[in-house]
Parts: sequence; structure tokens; C-alpha cells
Amino acid sequence: MENRPDELVKRIHELKKERNAVILAHNYQPADIQDMADFVGDSLELSQKAASTPAAVIVFCGVHFMAETASILSPHKKVLLPESSAGCPMADMVTAEKLRARKKELPNAVVVTYINSSAAVKAESDICCTSANAPQVVASLPDEEILFVPDKYLGQYVASKVPDKKYTFWPGFCPVHKGIKAAAVLKIKNAYPGAKVAVHPECRPEVIALADEVLSTGGMCRYAGRPDVNQVIVVTETGIIHRLQKENPQKQFIPVSDTAVCRTMKSITLEKVLHSLETLTPEVKVPEDIRLKAIGAVNRMLQII
Ligand code: 13P
Ligand code: SF4
Repeated sequence: MENRPDELVKRIHELKKERNAVILAHNYQPADIQDMADFVGDSLELSQKAASTPAAVIVFCGVHFMAETASILSPHKKVLLPESSAGCPMADMVTAEKLRARKKELPNAVVVTYINSSAAVKAESDICCTSANAPQVVASLPDEEILFVPDKYLGQYVASKVPDKKYTFWPGFCPVHKGIKAAAVLKIKNAYPGAKVAVHPECRPEVIALADEVLSTGGMCRYAGRPDVNQVIVVTETGIIHRLQKENPQKQFIPVSDTAVCRTMKSITLEKVLHSLETLTPEVKVPEDIRLKAIGAVNRMLQII
């Protein structure tokens, strides 16, 4: 017989105490996971939480690179990813080997790597960034030449904000955000002419051009709370609508598309979280040699913002 959701949540909370665990969830997670988690946030906020939590176990409701980042920052904690196959297709578009080869072709370039990347790729990088701080990170660098990895759209957005650099973009992208077309945004804008348009910087440039605000998912949550903001067209993965609506019940949030869904983000379930806490698996542990190389790039970012 299947367990009822409220029974699963009760058991998760009991086990969480016994295990001295904290449950972190990304803003794209399913609604029941967000509601059960201790903390919901964007990639930057979640890395900061992973670095500072006193808990012994981190249950990461997100995708593989996020759990790896937690393991890089908190090597003595057990980091669990309730669905071991929950990856990020964009992160898989670059490997350490290919990056090493590209670096040889661009010996003067500083490697700025989006946090949506494997630990092995971070280990080959000079500094990391997230969608919340990418222009700030690049602007802080004295170097002129930038190799931006792996999201070409985020890289192009950064270049529009920090134009006095020479950029090379890795040809990666997020399939979910790439699938959002300008025509779809324009159609909704016509239907809701008074609404503000909040766009994630993983979107195509022609979609970003339609934005009132370009924001990380955490930035969107803060923007939605502003007293002058009442109706927002939300141009990112649909999972964030749950949090926006929950925190601002009197406001209206219109998803750009019901099909902007990240399948791997949605592969985490309450059953899998409970199973993780029961068995303390599947664990994500970055090998120490890679961790030691990767932590420099992550910490360099965390020191800037
Ligand atoms: P943020 O939540 O950091 O904006 O990132 C979006 C994303 O695609 C995470 O995979
Ligand atoms: Fe990766 Fe895009 Fe899914 Fe984020 S939404 S985890 S970038 S595929």
C-alpha cells in the first residue's frame, strides 16, 4: 500500500532529526518537496547554505552538480542526492578533457565556469559564477580574455553587461530555457499588457531582450515581494511558480509556458527523500584530488559576492 504524503512528510521530519540532516531544495523542485524542505533557494543560496549548515547530513533535492558543489564545500558531511540519475543536461555539455584541450588553444583566457558544471570541470576553472552573480564575477576580474563555460546564453548576457572584455563562449545551453521562444513571451505580453516580464539569464538573447528584469530564480523571488510588483510573466522553469504564489498569494504569476519543465529536477519525490534518509544513500562524494582543485574556483566566487 502506498504511503500518504502527510505520513511520508512526518516520517521524513522524524528521520531528519535522528540523522542530524538538513533538506535543501532548489526553486524548480516539485511543490511537495519545496514544502517539506528546510530551505528553498537558487544555486548560489543553496551553495552558501551547504557551506554553513551545522548538520551532519545534507539531503540535496536538486540535480547532481548541486550535490557535488555541496560536497566540495562540506567534505566532512554526507551529501545525499535522492535520485542518483538527476543530472543537468547543460552541465553534461562540457567535460574536463574537452575543457583542458580548449584552454591550450586559449592560453591567455581566464576560465569562468557556471556552477551548472561537474566538479571535474570546476577543477579546471579559475572562478565559478551563478546566474545571480555572473556579471559581477566577470567585472571583478582584471583579465581581458574570458572563456565562459558552458552556457553560451548566460555568457552572452554577461558580455552585454560587461562589454570591455574579449569573450569565447562554450557552445552549451539549458534545453529547458532554450525551448522558450520570443514569440511565446510576446503572446503572453499581449494578453497581460500591465505585467512585468522576469527572465532567467539562461534564456536566448531575443527572449532576454523582452525582459523588464533579468534575474536568477532567487532574484525572481525577491523581485516578486516588492510592493510595486503585482503581476509577473515568469520566464523560466515552471517549478518556481509554486514558491512565488505561496509567498505572494495576492499577486498573479503567469508561467511563460507549461512545457518549460526540467525533467530531472522533477525526478525527486517524497518517497525517494525518505529512502535516502533511511539508507543514507545515494551519496555524492567528490574525490579529494578533484575537490582540492575545484574548491579554489568556488571559493573565489563566494569571496566576491
Ligand atoms: P538559479 O536557481 O541559480 O537561477 O539556476 C537556475 C538553474 O537552472 C539551476 O539549474
Ligand atoms: Fe540544467 Fe536547465 Fe534543468 Fe537547470 S533547468 S538543471 S540548467 S537542464
